[in-house]
Amino acid sequence: MASDIRDLLTMELQDTYSAETQILDALPQMIDATTNPKLKQAFQEHLQVTQRQVERLETVCQQLGIEPEGETCNAMEGLVEESEEIIDELDRGPVLDAALIGAAQKVEHYEMAAYGTLTAMLKSMGETKAADLLAQTLKEEKDTDELLTQIAESEVNPAALGQQPANDQAGGSRGAA
Ligand SMILES: [Fe+2]
Repeated sequence: MASDIRDLLTMELQDTYSAETQILDALPQMIDATTNPKLKQAFQEHLQVTQRQVERLETVCQQLGIEPEGETCNAMEGLVEESEEIIDELDRGPVLDAALIGAAQKVEHYEMAAYGTLTAMLKSMGETKAADLLAQTLKEEKDTDELLTQIAESEVNPAALGQQPANDQAGGSRGAA
């Protein structure tokens, strides 16, 4: 149990490390399940970004003399389980893509909360270098969340509404010339 802010920081860092490593394991399945090329690319890029984020957490832990492993993030276990259910239950296509965007955005928002908290705690403790590193991750999670909204609005949701294959270049209700 956390008895002071330093213990709390350790718990929060280990929880976030657990969350990131869980999503790192889950992302390949999500990449595989999506049929929209832009969404697939966004997930693939986020996989690479997540690898750097895990390294950043290791760097921060090293700087602070904290062991990164030790907690299991139950919240991320639940979020990953939900995305696995979606993949099992829905046929591949734009509706599944829309559902995967939803699942991924829930993950991003959880991570935004975690990194917002960590950054604030580190700043309060005068750990500016560590705070700056995790602020970079916070920005990446926000950017990913915005990109996913863009992909949802520009193609996945319209495709899901029209039940068209996401890679159908003819698009919406446009008729042949
Ligand atoms: Fe992340």
